[in-house]
Amino acid sequence: MLILGLESSCDETAAALVRDDRTILAHKLAGQEAAHRPYGGVVPEIAARAHVEMLAPLAEAALAEAGVRLDDVDAIAATAGPGLIGGVMVGLVTAKALALAASKPLVAVNHLEGHALSPRLADPDLAFPYLLLLVSGGHCQLLEVRGVGDYRRLATTIDDAAGEAFDKTAKLLGLGFPGGPAVERAAIAGDPRAVPLPRPLVGSREPHFSFAGLKSAVLRAADSGRWSAADIAASFQQAVVDCLIDRTRIALASAGPVTALVVAGGVAANSAVRGALATLAARHGVRFVAPPLWLCTDNAAMIAWAGAERFAAGLTDPLDVPARARWPL
Ligand code: KG4
Ligand code: ZN
Repeated sequence: MLILGLESSCDETAAALVRDDRTILAHKLAGQEAAHRPYGGVVPEIAARAHVEMLAPLAEAALAEAGVRLDDVDAIAATAGPGLIGGVMVGLVTAKALALAASKPLVAVNHLEGHALSPRLADPDLAFPYLLLLVSGGHCQLLEVRGVGDYRRLATTIDDAAGEAFDKTAKLLGLGFPGGPAVERAAIAGDPRAVPLPRPLVGSREPHFSFAGLKSAVLRAADSGRWSAADIAASFQQAVVDCLIDRTRIALASAGPVTALVVAGGVAANSAVRGALATLAARHGVRFVAPPLWLCTDNAAMIAWAGAERFAAGLTDPLDVPARARWPL
């Protein structure tokens, strides 16, 4: 079974061809960092226009690289939300047009489900149910992944997402855009114990997250002029890691039996986060699974893979399926 996947919910335009045996035949991705950098964040209108320009050529290039035609594809999957609505509409409408023209089934994929199932694309042995820490630019959740389309949300953030906190910290430290990798780079030269920062909600019984107070503390630390950007970046990153670990520890204790602790989403590309989660998993005697870095940040292979899993389960969508800015998993 061969699936074409399209992703356009934020600032990456991507197309991929993935087989149900986990072979990635082609993956084409065009980032938009340069276009958004002058504004210090993603500008939705600029993103949507760039998706319009890039998506069809990337899909064509993916087909060419894989040496297949649209006719050889079994289904077309696209992110249908949540995300910046202009971009989501571009991807979904493109998928609908291709599905209609080639008489192929359409699979409307929840972007979060793409992240949630992506570890199974990289790891054939990862079986349901697993505990997932989903940490991206827009979301910070703990989920029990029980099967395709079967998710139990154990916790979410009451304010900012973890990636958002990285992005805002980078911006106020003048480290540039995109923020997560910039903070991680700056942190290498810093002391993670230098700046006293809060660990919001650490120790509370429910495994929810909060990062707004941490962001305000970073702002105060930066304004005080007492510490270098490197020390603030390292201390901030350590505070985020401590929050993620404490909250995940609580969820591990309250979730049912799981086959693995799994991390996904853009922040899963952070090596301090990965390292600390690996240690936590080892302490709890549970397997730790993290996708390769390129599969953590937004991409189309995870959308094609989620499409493959849904298609195999008989889940397809009508051509009038809506694009959704908000869509809880
Ligand atoms: O999953 P993703 O690519 O897009 C969303 O669905 O949001 O996640 C993007 C987020 C951004 O906030 C970015 O700063 C963060 O992931 N990120 C990182 C790293 N790489 C990306 N955060 C910390 N360390 C990184 N290395
Ligand atoms: Zn994402």
